[in-house]
Amino acid sequence: MKRVDDFRLRLGDKQYVPIMIGGMGVDISTSELALEAARLGGIGHISDAMVQDVSDRKFDTSFVKEKTKTYKFNINNMDKAVVQFDLARLAEATALHVGKTMEAKSGPGLIFVNCMEKLTMNSPKETLRTRLVAALDAGIDGITMSAGLHLGSFALIADHPRFREAKLGIIVSSVRALQLFLRKISRLDRLPDYVIVEGPLAGGHLGFGMDWADYDLHTIMDEIHAFLKAENLDIPLIAAGGIFTGSDAVSFLEKGASGVQVATRFTMTHECGLPEKVKQEYVRATEDDIIVNGVSPTGYPMRMLKSTPAIGSGIRPGCESYGYLLDATGNCSYINAYNREVLANPDAKNVVVMDKTCLCTHMRNFNCWTCGHYTYRLKDTTHRREDGSYQMLSAEHVFNDYLLSVDNQIALPAKEEAAAA
Ligand SMILES: Cc1cc2nc3c(=O)[nH]c(=O)nc-3n(C[C@H](O)[C@H](O)[C@H](O)COP(=O)(O)O)c2cc1C
Repeated sequence: MKRVDDFRLRLGDKQYVPIMIGGMGVDISTSELALEAARLGGIGHISDAMVQDVSDRKFDTSFVKEKTKTYKFNINNMDKAVVQFDLARLAEATALHVGKTMEAKSGPGLIFVNCMEKLTMNSPKETLRTRLVAALDAGIDGITMSAGLHLGSFALIADHPRFREAKLGIIVSSVRALQLFLRKISRLDRLPDYVIVEGPLAGGHLGFGMDWADYDLHTIMDEIHAFLKAENLDIPLIAAGGIFTGSDAVSFLEKGASGVQVATRFTMTHECGLPEKVKQEYVRATEDDIIVNGVSPTGYPMRMLKSTPAIGSGIRPGCESYGYLLDATGNCSYINAYNREVLANPDAKNVVVMDKTCLCTHMRNFNCWTCGHYTYRLKDTTHRREDGSYQMLSAEHVFNDYLLSVDNQIALPAKEEAAAA
């Protein structure tokens, strides 16, 4: 019986353990988590979502404070068109986040950054270009373009000296999205180095509608394999979404996938950036607690725990401090939903907004508990303590369990010592 360790992911002329830990913003896939994947020979992702805030927390910078100060005058104005990112500051924050991570890298694996196109930041093209260029300048091994079609993203960095050397990949959820992307970049003479195919059971935003349950990752992988074969294209495919055990991973690798991208299993590791209290919410969740809804202002369905504090919260839009989801005209669907409720309830001290959420503020505060479909199985991967809480794992333990397990088995960690009386 095969296990993941019998396979290798070939990127260019090098081989890696075929396990990628997926990007999880905002700083849920921390540098520490990504560095463990690289140390163990696989690929780890950091995320550049809300990078200025991440930098402030990690490196004692004050990007958010400065931006808030600059745009304080606009806080009660519902028109946010004036709120712009200072591109030099954005590049600085990215350079710090990426650069410090790369400095700390050890081992034979790679570190990639997950860049979501849907972070439109009131100037989609220029802010994306700045993020991509700064990450390349800071020495990132590769960039995964996610959450959006990214049709123009390769062209934005085509004149960068590392354009052909750094690994560049995209996430798609259908053969059609891949076809569109390849058509769009054809004149650049530069194919993606890998394509992550994300199915409907993933965490975060989904590349499907609310009919996500009608789709299945194996079928989508088969379609994309067939398309690449017909076109004579040799691009490694990485399967993602709901791959919970090493055996699940092997089922894709045996059918020709070059690797797998996994995330949910790592949300209960010490290295994951979620606060301990939130990790315990994840591991306690039952299947009924996990929902897919439309509260994200990005327009994509998102999977989350139904007890997530972000649902129904009517906080004032935090665009002067954050503003990562403002579109090219300075709008965000949360602002409209919030305004509607304020107008409808002029005397209310606090309004309730059910249909959208202020994703920036809530992700930043770890109050939007996005999660993968199989989060309810996390409790099977560890020990329950006497007080009802669950033991956290090391990223190395989870990584090795994917690598070595057979027969859908999950290796439990050594039981932690009971606290000294
Ligand atoms: C908590 C959490 C946050 C996520 N955030 C992002 C993100 O910011 N960008 C992204 O492209 N994918 C995101 N994802 C998706 C993962 O990178 C990954 O592709 C997917 O969850 C893999 O499926 P699995 O969680 O079932 O292993 C997130 C997943 C989780 C669980």
